[in-house]
Amino acid sequence: MSSVLSLARPDILELQPYQHATWDPSLERMHANEMPWRAQGDNTRAGLNRYPEPQPHDLVERMARIYDVPTSQVLVGRGSDEAIDLLVRAFCRAGVDRVVITPPTFGFYKVAARIQGAGVIEVPLLDDGFALDTDAVIAAGRGAKIVFLCSPNNPTGNLLDEADVLAVCHALATTSLVCVDEAYLEFSGRASLSARLEDHPNLVVLRTLSKAYALAGARCGTLIAAEEIVSLLKRIIPPYAIPASTVEDVLELTEAPQRAISAERIRTMLAERDKMRARLQAAPTVSRVFPSDANFLLVECRDAKRFLEAGKSVGLLVRDFSSAPRLTGCLRISVGTPEQNERLLRAVERP
Ligand SMILES: Cc1ncc(COP(=O)(O)O)c(C=O)c1O
Repeated sequence: MSSVLSLARPDILELQPYQHATWDPSLERMHANEMPWRAQGDNTRAGLNRYPEPQPHDLVERMARIYDVPTSQVLVGRGSDEAIDLLVRAFCRAGVDRVVITPPTFGFYKVAARIQGAGVIEVPLLDDGFALDTDAVIAAGRGAKIVFLCSPNNPTGNLLDEADVLAVCHALATTSLVCVDEAYLEFSGRASLSARLEDHPNLVVLRTLSKAYALAGARCGTLIAAEEIVSLLKRIIPPYAIPASTVEDVLELTEAPQRAISAERIRTMLAERDKMRARLQAAPTVSRVFPSDANFLLVECRDAKRFLEAGKSVGLLVRDFSSAPRLTGCLRISVGTPEQNERLLRAVERP
């Protein structure tokens, strides 16, 4: 067994996985207790009366092509949320194992760990630009099964330094997985760390179609990791995890022409983000706008309540982090359409 696989829960390594109905499209199906007729009005290609293919081949291939990795390193799930949940369940024994998180960061790592009964060690990002406290993460990581890092980080918006992340992977090579969540990477211009998988078998990278590809409602996230980790997680993902309609939608909506439109929209989004940053910085209720490598801005307000109310008065909702630890007075604004951005700016620019 590889050293990385030996980090998994022993009972999961020994688990006899659920035997789903054989997938053989060359044969007619009388083996899965499905109805032989489609529901009235079901115009899907596959037919929703049929269970979908587990880890649909075409979808896995498409994600492998988009993210430029081999199909053997790809697990597709219902959003990266499902990948986070699967990782914690496969590697952390309830009441025994722990994960490391680096607050302020995406909230689901902690929740997934708590649901599993795993401990959570918090190593805060540094005050100076929300950088990684590399030595402290390494020290904490030695006593944990998974270190969750988010780059660009939600809600602070900054990329983590690649050398810092790789130093963590290197130092924890035999003790822990390092899961780098790249949900917002497409907005940053930075290359994915998935290219470094060969050197770091304990590295796990998360990607999603929910942000840059405008497909949050489809629920499609991709975990990229060493083949043996992917094989292990395939044994515990629920049997028919990806709905047939998601597969059809994603295959249709991530063809080359749509990908070109996504790239164009990202350029528009980044121009809007920079415009918003400059104008927010000058707004009377705002004391600071943090730099961002993502599709949102973290804004520190003199009066967060007043900012929120100004947004609501023109029908716009932004995310309130003002009472979260280390984010006093902060709001997170997802960059919208040029019209929405202008409406928000005008509302908060009023003296
Ligand atoms: C950093 C980060 N990771 C993961 C997710 C969840 O993404 P998905 O829609 O792929 O489950 C989010 C959602 O906001 C996020 O901000």
